[in-house]
Amino acid sequence: MTTKNIVLAGLGLAFAASAHAEGVAKPDKVAVCAACHGENGVALQPIYPNLAGQQASYIEHALHGYQSGERKNPIMGAQASGLGEADIKQLAAWFSQQPAKDYVPDVDAGPTAKK
Ligand code: HEC
Repeated sequence: MTTKNIVLAGLGLAFAASAHAEGVAKPDKVAVCAACHGENGVALQPIYPNLAGQQASYIEHALHGYQSGERKNPIMGAQASGLGEADIKQLAAWFSQQPAKDYVPDVDAGPTAKK
């Protein structure tokens, strides 16, 4: 193998790794979100939405909405205000790649429960 071929083979591997869906590195800032949304995007309390398996573009859109004030929520407004564009992209990629939790509705609870 010539040096040129080795370099090209290396580039091919690097490209394959970055294109692979599970190759998303965990951003450090996940630790902040984890307090409510869980490290893997499965929320710790029902009042916090699950982010696991959500579309990355939706997560980005939501975070931009909190930043601009188009979407108003005191908790998330504060959380989103400290994020840069790179953070938003990385966090959206991370949560979108986590397996979504199966949702099993509890028919004995909530407003539609038959008492
Ligand atoms: C203190 C708890 C808390 C923390 C920490 C937190 N969030 Fe949230 N998050 C919420 C709540 C509550 C909502 C629902 C707000 C609403 O109704 O708009 C929410 C909503 C969201 C949504 C919109 C979900 C949807 O389905 O529309 C996204 C995206 C999100 N958070 C991302 C993040 C990210 C990324 C971080 C870390 C930088 C983070 N959150 C940190 C509590 C939190």
